[in-house]
Amino acid sequence: MFDLIELAGVNKVYRAGASEVQALIDVNVTVNKGEIFGVIGHSGAGKSTLLRCVNLLERPSEGRVTVGGTELTSLGEKELQSRRQKIGMIFQHFNLLTTATVRDNVAFPLKISSLTKKEVKARVDELLELVGLRDHQHKYPAQLSGGQKQRVGIARALANHPDVLLCDEATSALDPHTTESILELLKDINSKLGITILLITHEMNVIRSICDRVAVMDQGRVIEMGDVLSVFLNPQHPTTKGFVSQVTDMIDTEALGIRSEGRVVRINYMGNTAYEPVLFETVRSTAATFVILQGTVSRMKDTPYGQLIVELRGERKDTDHIISELRQQGLDVTIIQ
Ligand SMILES: Nc1ncnc2c1ncn2[C@@H]1O[C@H](COP(=O)(O)OP(=O)(O)OP(=O)(O)O)[C@@H](O)[C@H]1O
Ligand SMILES: [Mg+2]
Repeated sequence: MFDLIELAGVNKVYRAGASEVQALIDVNVTVNKGEIFGVIGHSGAGKSTLLRCVNLLERPSEGRVTVGGTELTSLGEKELQSRRQKIGMIFQHFNLLTTATVRDNVAFPLKISSLTKKEVKARVDELLELVGLRDHQHKYPAQLSGGQKQRVGIARALANHPDVLLCDEATSALDPHTTESILELLKDINSKLGITILLITHEMNVIRSICDRVAVMDQGRVIEMGDVLSVFLNPQHPTTKGFVSQVTDMIDTEALGIRSEGRVVRINYMGNTAYEPVLFETVRSTAATFVILQGTVSRMKDTPYGQLIVELRGERKDTDHIISELRQQGLDVTIIQ
């Protein structure tokens, strides 16, 4: 695995007359080859600016942008144009040519390629097949559903065999069911074609369904970054906690506290570790007992995860022993009280 996209010390200031907006502040993000990397943040956080800095649709005011080993920020306009061909992009409102058919929309980026007519036809057929639009190829965008329009956008973005696909809120205009099917398609494109995906969204559900790693943005800064499970299970920043609560009724630890007489711990688990037998066995080897106050089990991309809030009742030496034993067994244990 190597870095495919690197933003290093990126700052972006927009100037409009006398006013200035600092849209990106010292952003350092590395996306590995082959992963699906998500950036989440509220409106105005700087997500689109970050994404547009990757293909230099926006030029950073400061900092370096490197894609596939080439520092784009040091290229001239012509070289940049040619490198951009290998960076596909899709948009929230699809940006299709309304007066062209599905076929012609997909063929559009191939116009400037050196392919023959026959080769273009073959490539378009292949792309339409990939996104499942063969039967709709002669329609115009106005005759398509939102999900179908986004499929055209995806086919068009893949036309020149990009190594990176940038997605700007690609599912925000779609209903939940259609969102699901587009996310599945992106996941397939990532795993079958090996295309690295960088997507931005304000929906935690999107991050949870398909991303490997995530960066959380707030007012131009990346405030938290890591693999989705760790960020999800241990959100640090209030903004991150807010996003996490969109997709789960994560345990409200403050509401629990006072009633309990023992020590309260939170146990996170991921992957296929079964924590209940471990917990049961460990507690049983002492004179202490436990009560499960709350628990949740779900799935993140392909990994099961869970969280338990447990009250340990017994002598301090026993509860200390249980906590250290659980940690030894590889469980992530946080003492809440
Ligand atoms: N071309 C521009 N000129 C001036 N200011 C801009 C420009 N584009 C964006 N901004 C400002 O920069 C900040 C970040 O904008 P950006 O579009 O990157 O946010 P975002 O996270 O994508 O928001 P949204 O979720 O609403 O799309 C905002 O304060 C915005 O008003
Ligand atoms: Mg945006």
